[in-house]
Amino acid sequence: MITQFRYRIALLAALFGVLVAMFWMIDRAMLDARAELSLHAADTAGLFATSQIALLGPLRTDGSTIYAGSIDLSTRQDLPDMVERETGFGCTIFLGNTRIATTATEAGSTERALGTQANQLVTQLVFRDGEVFSGVTETIGKDWVIVYRPLYGADGKRIGMVASFREWASFVEDLRTFRGLLAAVLGFLFLSIALLVFRIGRTIEALEDQHTQNQQQNARLIEVSELLHHRAEELDHAREDAVEARDEAERASQAKSVFLANMSHELRTPLNAIIGYSELLLDDLPDSEAQDDLGRIGTASRHLLRVISDILDISKIEAGKLELELRSFPLPSLLETLATQVRPLTTARGTTLHLQIDPEIDRMCGDETKVTQILLNLLSNAAKFTEDGEVILSAHRDEEDVVFRVHDTGIGMTPEELDRVFEPFTQGDASTTRRYGGTGLGLTITRRLAEFMGGTIDVRSTLGEGTVFELRLPQVSKKGRCPSQPSTPPYH
Ligand SMILES: Nc1ncnc2c1ncn2[C@@H]1O[C@H](COP(=O)(O)OP(=O)(O)OP(=O)(O)O)[C@@H](O)[C@H]1O
Ligand SMILES: [Mg+2]
Repeated sequence: MITQFRYRIALLAALFGVLVAMFWMIDRAMLDARAELSLHAADTAGLFATSQIALLGPLRTDGSTIYAGSIDLSTRQDLPDMVERETGFGCTIFLGNTRIATTATEAGSTERALGTQANQLVTQLVFRDGEVFSGVTETIGKDWVIVYRPLYGADGKRIGMVASFREWASFVEDLRTFRGLLAAVLGFLFLSIALLVFRIGRTIEALEDQHTQNQQQNARLIEVSELLHHRAEELDHAREDAVEARDEAERASQAKSVFLANMSHELRTPLNAIIGYSELLLDDLPDSEAQDDLGRIGTASRHLLRVISDILDISKIEAGKLELELRSFPLPSLLETLATQVRPLTTARGTTLHLQIDPEIDRMCGDETKVTQILLNLLSNAAKFTEDGEVILSAHRDEEDVVFRVHDTGIGMTPEELDRVFEPFTQGDASTTRRYGGTGLGLTITRRLAEFMGGTIDVRSTLGEGTVFELRLPQVSKKGRCPSQPSTPPYH
């Protein structure tokens, strides 16, 4: 409710009314209290005056004179003066209703108002009926607090009146300041409450706005969360589809590998026969033209056989049919045999082949055939891509690993070629096949074999400067003994 402007205004108007009423009531109460107090004081002053008169002696009248003892009261103007001095109230002594001694002056003059008469009402009430009159009355254009009490002679008869009076304004002078203060306090109260009402109103408005915004945000969040839920479901489906597709692809790839493995095997048998027979014929036929042809048939068949062997190897690896045959073998002699095999190739290209074998290495535990195949691939690459340079085959131990390096000073590779070097059927550039032959399967097989044996293979190369392949294989047996359970992890 407080949030609506008109309600705020109505509330403040009501408050204003209440405060004005409060002001009026407090002012009234103050005035009443003042009036009562002043009348009380006036009465006391009147009694004081009566007692002072009585002190002069017993009262009696003689015609138009009042005597106190033997003193004519009309000669004692000092008496009302003394009362005024002592009590702060003016004083008048009446004979009957005529002023015979007074501090009051005539209107507009400094002459004492002697001989003038009290009004009829007072005369009737006080002098005739013997009552005490006390109240605020208007005389000569001003309000006066005034008390009249009857004056009795020694014989108990009323002979006159004594009045004590003071201007009403003197009692309420200081009330002006009080009123001002009261108005200021109430005004301040009103302003503070008004401010508070508007501030609370604004705060509630802000809170309501916030609440509305929160509700909108909640609604949006719910929408988003529903959307997310929906997306999550879609993703789940997509993931399931992807897993299915992957399984399907794996099945297809395995089927392909099995097919290739079988096909390669089927192809190798007749190829071996072709190579065998062409060599036999080469021995039998002396004709040099036929010998050339047979030589070409032999070379082409051997190349085909190598390609088929590589494909067979890859197929075996992919079909998961590869097996490790772990045993301990003398490593230095294996490396020397390899060097002997490759040396004709390097020598033909004017390149020197060096062997650097760490003397600590004696025997190694591993699959000798596969180690040979890997190193042969690396060495034949180094020999193939190096002319009039150097090829170094080194081996050393690094904790539990044997590290082989094939370093050459050949043509090297660009960073792009390096990135793709282990990908199947990838060769340096289009001219590589033409110039150096090969299918681009050697390094693919090499890396698969190295990983299959729990090892790694890395390469660094600089174009025009040379290449280093580093093969790291675990499971070294320094003392030449293989682990008791050789063909299980870490090779799977
Ligand atoms: N030592 C090296 N120096 C320079 N380039 C190399 C070296 N070894 C490999 N390469 C580059 O990597 C490519 C792939 O090598 P990989 O052994 O897989 O295939 P290949 O030798 O061309 O053919 P394959 O080995 O099947 O007969 C090579 O064609 C060659 O471009
Ligand atoms: Mg190769």
